[in-house]
Amino acid sequence: MGRLAGKVAVVTGAARGQGRSHAVALAKEGATIVAVDVLEKLRTPLHAGSTAEDMAETVRLVEKEDQRILARKVDVRDLAALKSLADEAMTEFGRIDVLVVNHGIWAISENSWETEEEDWQESVDVLLTGAWKATTAFIPKIIEGGRGGSVVLTSSAMGIKAQPSSVAYTAAKHGVLGLMKTLAWEAGSHNIRANAILPGMVDTEMLRGGTIEKSSEWQPRFFSLDRSLLPDGLIPPDGISRAVVFLASDDSAFITGAALPVDAGWTTF
Ligand SMILES: NC(=O)c1ccc[n+]([C@@H]2O[C@H](COP(=O)([O-])OP(=O)(O)OC[C@H]3O[C@@H](n4cnc5c(N)ncnc54)[C@H](O)[C@@H]3O)[C@@H](O)[C@H]2O)c1
Repeated sequence: MGRLAGKVAVVTGAARGQGRSHAVALAKEGATIVAVDVLEKLRTPLHAGSTAEDMAETVRLVEKEDQRILARKVDVRDLAALKSLADEAMTEFGRIDVLVVNHGIWAISENSWETEEEDWQESVDVLLTGAWKATTAFIPKIIEGGRGGSVVLTSSAMGIKAQPSSVAYTAAKHGVLGLMKTLAWEAGSHNIRANAILPGMVDTEMLRGGTIEKSSEWQPRFFSLDRSLLPDGLIPPDGISRAVVFLASDDSAFITGAALPVDAGWTTF
């Protein structure tokens, strides 16, 4: 029997990349999936936006694991839409046990003081306020079940380290750890654990579209350093999903308030 048999897991940013991989990995362990994604290109990132076709592929892969999935186009900046999806998921499946807040965008600007106000705001709204909104919509449903649960927040190696030319991203990902630690205190009495993962460089669309090239041009000193201590290069999305499944399952029953690097050693620098 899977480690998440009979449980319902919500994954934000589930149309592609790590989110799709998490949804499939959780389904393989027996979870029913609620998949959330904006399915649009946002204003600031150079990388492409996800699409309805991407989400259809996530649905196909979860159903291939013989699990049910409710997939919805929702922007995590829209609290009312998230709450309405939480209600819909309860009507459909009767419970929510796990929340994986994974959605994200990576926007860059050469220096902090040259960042456009709208660009700063979009990253903070999506990465930090969107993470708070997702937890605000879904944690009450986990509490309602009375069975405890697990919240996994995706921060980044940049949640504990500086990354020049990514000020809004770095600041927001630091903020996600503050959210996680506060939730660990507040939700702990309901036996709901809150932890964060800190991915290193993961092989997804987020790294494409010229973001790495432009950042390297602006900050050659930072980007010329290979911080991976392992020989494998970029981390495949599944490498992060294995840590997410661990934190979602009872294997981590006594772990809460933790920030787990899955970064091939990047944050040792
Ligand atoms: N790729 C990396 O190297 C890396 C490193 C550290 C952390 N991360 C983090 O990992 C997470 C997953 O990113 P990924 O690498 O899979 O990139 P990705 O771009 O492939 O996936 C991100 C997903 O989030 C969705 N999304 C963006 N804004 C949204 C919004 N407002 N509402 C709902 N969905 C939204 C996107 O549509 C996309 O499907 C992000 O939080 C990212 O910041 C990535």
